[in-house]
Amino acid sequence: MVKMNKNSGYLKKIRLEKDKIESLENFPFNLPAVKNLDELAFHPKVTYLIGENGSGKSTLLEAIASKLNINAEGGSRNFNFTTRDSLSDLDKYLTLTKYPKHFKDAYFLRAESYFNVATEIERLDKEPGAGGKIITYYGGKSLHEQSHGESFLALFLYRLFGQGVYLLDEPEAALSPARQLAILARIHDLINLDAQFIIATHSPIIMSYPESTIYEFSDTGIKEVKYEETQNYILMKNFINNPGKFHEILFKN
Ligand SMILES: Nc1ncnc2c1ncn2[C@@H]1O[C@H](COP(=O)(O)OP(=O)(O)O)[C@@H](O)[C@H]1O
Ligand SMILES: [Mg+2]
Repeated sequence: MVKMNKNSGYLKKIRLEKDKIESLENFPFNLPAVKNLDELAFHPKVTYLIGENGSGKSTLLEAIASKLNINAEGGSRNFNFTTRDSLSDLDKYLTLTKYPKHFKDAYFLRAESYFNVATEIERLDKEPGAGGKIITYYGGKSLHEQSHGESFLALFLYRLFGQGVYLLDEPEAALSPARQLAILARIHDLINLDAQFIIATHSPIIMSYPESTIYEFSDTGIKEVKYEETQNYILMKNFINNPGKFHEILFKN
């Protein structure tokens, strides 16, 4: 029997203010997931954003991060570095509704730009006159001196402490299946410490947390699906059960 706590979440929903948008022709409003968006309600524990590459999951996560004043390239509210200037202005058209309860922590974890977060931590820690070293919050060992997977896990174990809103973009990218299970266990611990997660993922392991809402992004917009109905689950299950069958189809020429 899985022990569950009943935390109530911090973020309630987002709403796209369509009447403010001048044209649906241009990025990001031309993406089906954005064009057809009205409201998206968040699960108090975990909300998953899933769907094909390019369907707009990161674009939406970045906009939510901006609404929370978290650096859209990743990190906590204390980071404000930018390495690219291509962020969408979707956040300006979103209304975020929160529950009255305050959160003490907020973090945006992106596999894509995690390297830049590690570099920024090293830079800040070298600055004279700064207080305690930031790296101590990540387990003490330079994130550049650990493997991508190890440093990711270090962040999860040491930096995230609960009572927070955590946005994760493809956390599985650097992780072996066993480490993905470790992350899932840590997500559960953090939920018991009053964390709320919004996670973009392709991993059937990561997206399996029972108390969650799964939103699938597609050509027709965003719809809620059950775990067992997701493409990721069905495809992976069928493949593992019969790889030979897939090879027959894939390698027929
Ligand atoms: N700054 C940008 N300008 C124009 N198109 C963009 C920009 N950023 C992303 N896109 C496009 O928007 C689509 C959605 O991207 P993204 O949100 O990163 O997808 P996902 O995270 O679901 O894989 C992609 O087709 C991508 O090429
Ligand atoms: Mg993405």
